[in-house]
Amino acid sequence: MDHFLYQGGILHAEGVAIPEIAAQVGTPFYVYSTATLTRHYRLFTEALSPLPHLVCFAIKSLSNVAVLKTLGDLGAGMDVVSIGEYLRARAAGVPGERIVFSGVGKTRAEIRAALEGGIRQFNVESEPELRAISDIATALGVQAPIALRVNPDVDAKTHAKIATGKSENKFGIPIAKARAVYAEAAALPGLRVVGVDVHIGSQLTDLAPFEAAFLKVRELTLQLREDGHQITRLDLGGGLGIPYTGSNDAPPLPVEYGAMIQRTLGDLGCEIEIEPGRLISGNSGLLVAQVVYVKSGEGRDFLILDAAMNDLARPSMYDAHHDIVPVVESAPGDPTQPFDVVGPVCETGDTFARGREMPLLAEGDLVAFRSAGAYGAVMASEYNSRPLIPEVLVNGDHFAVIRERPTFDEILARDKLPFWL
Ligand code: LLP
Repeated sequence: MDHFLYQGGILHAEGVAIPEIAAQVGTPFYVYSTATLTRHYRLFTEALSPLPHLVCFAIKSLSNVAVLKTLGDLGAGMDVVSIGEYLRARAAGVPGERIVFSGVGKTRAEIRAALEGGIRQFNVESEPELRAISDIATALGVQAPIALRVNPDVDAKTHAKIATGKSENKFGIPIAKARAVYAEAAALPGLRVVGVDVHIGSQLTDLAPFEAAFLKVRELTLQLREDGHQITRLDLGGGLGIPYTGSNDAPPLPVEYGAMIQRTLGDLGCEIEIEPGRLISGNSGLLVAQVVYVKSGEGRDFLILDAAMNDLARPSMYDAHHDIVPVVESAPGDPTQPFDVVGPVCETGDTFARGREMPLLAEGDLVAFRSAGAYGAVMASEYNSRPLIPEVLVNGDHFAVIRERPTFDEILARDKLPFWL
C-alpha cells in the first residue's frame, strides 16, 4: 500500500497534487512519500517486535539525506556499502552504533574512516578483508566488531544480476569454510566477533530461499558457539520483494517474513538485524515525467517522454516492469492504445515499456512511474549530458525539494581544461 492516490481525478502524493509539484520544480522529478516510507519501515519493526532487532535500511536503494533522516528519526539503523553512504547516514543524524558496513571491496581508507567515526559492525566478505580490518583497528588501538557474511549456496530465484547467494557469486565466504575463517578471525588481535551475516539477493518473491539460508545460518551459529565464539547478532540481509504490477503474484508480507525468522532463529537468543531497501523505499517513490511528443511509427506509436534511461535505469538494465500511469486519471471506458514508452536518449535500450496499453496521451501530459523509489534516483547518471533530476519529499500537505536540479553552469564548471588547451 502506498500514499499515491487519485483525488478528484488528479494523482496526489499524500495531500499534494502532482501537477502542483511539476509546476514548481519542472519535470522530470522523483517524489517520495513520508507516510509510505514510515509505514513500510514500521511493518518490519512490528514483524520483528517479539525479538530484539534492528532494521537497517539499505541506503543503496535510496540515499537522499532527508529520506535517511525520516527513517533514522524513527530509530532505523542503516546498511552502508561505501564511505559515501556512511557519511550520508551520519549527516542524517544516525549514530555509528546503528550503522553496519557491508560490501566486498571496502578500502583501507573506508575501514579507517568508519572505525574512527564509530560503527556497529563490519560485515566481512573475505579473509584478506579480515586481516585488513584487524591491522587498521590494531593501529588505532581498538577492536573492530565483525560478522562474517557467509554464502549459503542457495538459489534466490530472482534476476541473475541481483542474486548473490550462490557459490559462483562474488559475495561472502563459502559456508563450508566459515568455521575455519571464524577461527582465524578470533585469533586476530584487532577483531571482536559479534555475529553472522547473510544476504542472498534482491526482489525475492518467495520465502523458501530465505528459510533455506536461515536454517544454514542457524546450524552454523550452533557450531560456532560450540567452537567458543560469542554469536550475539544475526544479520539476515535484505531482499524481500515488492509487487511491481497490480496483477503479479504478491510477494510475501513482512509479517510472514518476520514469523518465519522467529520460527527458524527465534530461540537462539540473538539480536536480529535485517537490511531491507526496496520494500521500504520502492513503493514510496514515483518518477514523474512529461510527454514531449507522440510519434507514429511503422505499426507502432511512441510516447516520447522527457525522462530517460539515465534517470531510471531499471527497465533497460533488468527489463524491469514499472507501471506507468497518467497523472490525470482516465475514466473507465476511455479509449486506450498500445504505446512504446521511450526516452530521448540515443539508444534503443532507452525504452521503458513496449506495447504498453495507455490512454491517448498528448504532448505536455504528465505520467508517473510507480514503484520508482528504490534503485531509481540512486542509479541515475548524466548520460547524454542530462542533469540529475530533482528529488521531492512530501509530508501530508507539504512538499520540499530535497535535491535540486543542477544548473548547466554548475555542470560545466566541473569540467576543467588542461594547461595546453
Ligand atoms: N543488503 C545487502 C548486502 C545488499 O547487497 C542489498 C542489495 C540489500 C541489503 C538490500 O536489498 P533489497 O532489500 O533492496 O532487495 N539495482 C537492483 C537491486 C540491487 C540490489 C543490491 N543489493 C534493482 O534495481 O533491482
